[in-house]
Amino acid sequence: MAIVDVRAGNSPPRAQAVIGARPQGTNGDAEALFPQIHADLRQVETRLRQAVHANVPVVPEVFLHTVHAGGKRVRPALALLAAQLCGRCDEAAFDVAVAVELIHLASLIHDDVVDDSVRRRARLTANRVWGNKTAVLVADFVHSLAYPILSRCGDVALVRRLSETVVQMVEGELAQMFNEGSLEVTEPHYFQMIGDKTASLMALACELGAMVGGGSSAQIAALRDYGFKVGLAFQIADDLLDLTGDEERIGKPVGNDLRCGRLTLPLLHVLHNGNAAAKEELLPLICRGDLEVADIQRIRALLDRAGALQHAAEYARGLSSAAAELLADFPDNEARQALEALAAYIVLRTT
Ligand code: IPE
Ligand code: IPE
Ligand code: MG
Ligand code: MG
Repeated sequence: MAIVDVRAGNSPPRAQAVIGARPQGTNGDAEALFPQIHADLRQVETRLRQAVHANVPVVPEVFLHTVHAGGKRVRPALALLAAQLCGRCDEAAFDVAVAVELIHLASLIHDDVVDDSVRRRARLTANRVWGNKTAVLVADFVHSLAYPILSRCGDVALVRRLSETVVQMVEGELAQMFNEGSLEVTEPHYFQMIGDKTASLMALACELGAMVGGGSSAQIAALRDYGFKVGLAFQIADDLLDLTGDEERIGKPVGNDLRCGRLTLPLLHVLHNGNAAAKEELLPLICRGDLEVADIQRIRALLDRAGALQHAAEYARGLSSAAAELLADFPDNEARQALEALAAYIVLRTT
């Protein structure tokens, strides 16, 4: 869906997403980022693959299709590094890492149904291969696996926090869906929505990692706040990649947010803070249905000229720096350096 101009009264169909290609099974440029926990992430990979046992063969088929396609594994990395930074990265930290990645995986499969997406991690999406019904049910299955894994840690508070976070993520996705095509969306709405749908899970990965790592309440709060800020910056960067990214590198279509009628930070900047001429030029473009590649290029050029892409990138960099500053009171060890590098990476990433 494009933004619907109520003056025009039109409700355009969605455009077909363009398909990119990327070598399958790679984790993009994030692999080089976590050398300290490379071996630990391999273990997470093995545990993820072993997590699914089902009587119905389509469950592991869909699950492994998504797992084998790669993914950056940012959330397990956050959990493991938070635990390390607090002093103890043992079995419980691995359970947290696997649980948050399972929730992430399930949310991606659901998100692709909601977005009617055809490409994810350089592969066809589960909904495209198996259909929406199977994708929804397998994602439900995968989601449910996270709870028993997390409960092995023996602390009911962890399971409660996970459940609260999933509620928050769904609220974020629903808010996004109901705001599609609306020109009423403001920056506060946008930040609430990306905080709920994306930053909440990154915050949780850090919080639970810190809890099982034996962190003090101040350390848990600092790491949670770090994860939330990293998550906001991560989603702003993802939204920028949707406008400016290389489909082959990101392994999913670009322009999807525009086609769905979502106002992300650069567009909001022009609409609410830009000069009148830029706004007048942007409005008819985003209100047009069935956006072609050329329309998306025009919008991107306009946002570039208006300084809106730079504004959003700058905002994300500010969040990333603020996140890194929250680590100042921790010992300056390898885990802290990796978390600092991660905060810097998420705003520079190209995948
Ligand atoms: C994609 O997350 C969904 C967003 C929150 C933007 P990632 O970019 O972490 O996806 P993978 O796991 O690396 O594929
Ligand atoms: C993040 O938002 C979705 C989830 C939190 C599941 P997006 O819709 O932007 O993610 P992509 O771009 O499809 O990966
Ligand atoms: Mg999506
Ligand atoms: Mg996106």
